[in-house]
Amino acid sequence: MKVLLVGGGGREHAIAWKLSQSKQLKQLYIAPGNPGTAEVGINVDIADTNLDGLVSFAKDKRIDLVVVGPEDPLAAGLVNRLEAEGILAFGPTQEAARLEADKAFAKQIMRANSIPTAEARIFTHFEDAKMYIASRDEPVVVKAAGLAKGKGVFVCDDPADGILAAEKIMVNKIFGDAGNTIVVEDKLLGQEASILAFVDGRTIYVMESAQDHKPIGEQDTGPNTGGMGAYSPAPIVTDALMDQIIREILVPLVDGMNRNETPYKGVLYAGLMITPGGPRVLEFNARFGDPETQPILMRMKSDLLEVMEAVCRGRLSEVTVEWDPRPAVCVVMASKGYPDAYEKGKVITGLEAAFRLKDVKVFQAGTAKRDGQLVTAGGRVLGVTAMGPTIADAKKRAYEAVSLIHFEGAYYRRDIADKALR
Ligand code: AMP
Ligand code: GLY
Repeated sequence: MKVLLVGGGGREHAIAWKLSQSKQLKQLYIAPGNPGTAEVGINVDIADTNLDGLVSFAKDKRIDLVVVGPEDPLAAGLVNRLEAEGILAFGPTQEAARLEADKAFAKQIMRANSIPTAEARIFTHFEDAKMYIASRDEPVVVKAAGLAKGKGVFVCDDPADGILAAEKIMVNKIFGDAGNTIVVEDKLLGQEASILAFVDGRTIYVMESAQDHKPIGEQDTGPNTGGMGAYSPAPIVTDALMDQIIREILVPLVDGMNRNETPYKGVLYAGLMITPGGPRVLEFNARFGDPETQPILMRMKSDLLEVMEAVCRGRLSEVTVEWDPRPAVCVVMASKGYPDAYEKGKVITGLEAAFRLKDVKVFQAGTAKRDGQLVTAGGRVLGVTAMGPTIADAKKRAYEAVSLIHFEGAYYRRDIADKALR
């Protein structure tokens, strides 16, 4: 098969790496890709939001399957455009991707299908939101309803902070139109877990569990980022809990999306809080998580391309997926300053040394080639991922690889996977 993968982050490097192992793969293109994906396929200089460019490239090259990595092209309707041209596309349609792109829509679907989530109110006027938040004396979570690169959520322990957050989003428009509507919800307590599943419209195939580390600082302090590290499996997700998640969340959601006439196909990502009262949905994403995908795909033994094709053809029930029982840990190395402003263009060294370590894979995210050298080009630069017989071993190995890699201002959390070890 000829495959076009859309995106250029660490997630896409992991997907490209995994697809490149498929016996069915004839040619892999990545648009726009990064220097990491260039090692396993051909990068094409088309932005992931250039829908016209992507569709005409897929037609010209007679692409058999387009895999859409990030949320922006999904929310913009890339899958609809490709399917209108008769091209197989892995990912939800624009209507179904609203599950991620519109948190107000997601809340409504959850409500309509009795899916456990935090109690929430939806606001389109700042004054109304302000009055509501001021009237509460518990902590609140204020979320921009639209897409904000994982940074649109403010967990506020005091109502004054909640009002400030609502003002930043709705009045100062720090996320642009993504903040025209906000969701204000109760703060939930517990441990988080990410559950990703392949869904073909009807059949749900749950992948191995994972846990992300969203805040920039150790011990989960500071502002949220796209994700600073992840591990898989998440020990908190026992078999019994996974059954409950499938029963109470995934099945009613996929069913509800069908009844809503927005059938869901692709990867469904449920960001959950495991509370003393059971699992609660924090958010849905319409795609693979980044960086959860890095450890999850490192553990996947089956042919990803075969599974993706089965999803697109509504035949997921016909394939089986196997996993390496060994845990994997991914540590994100970021540019100093991220998630705020940061400098780019710092030379990256040590990848060859890290490469020689056993069961280690360095996935590239914000990197670029300049005069033959690998340099930093984004906030999250690398996802250093390792497998080991235990989570502790995988962690040790990942940090051993991190210690071999250098660039000016490299920042990473030193406590990735500690939660799993407690
Ligand atoms: P989201 O993008 O909606 O998953 O939110 C990003 C992060 O904010 C989550 O991973 C949680 O750490 C935190 N968060 C979101 N909603 C809540 C909530 N209702 N209670 C506590 N923390 C939350
Ligand atoms: N790691 C969180 C996300 O992909 O949204």
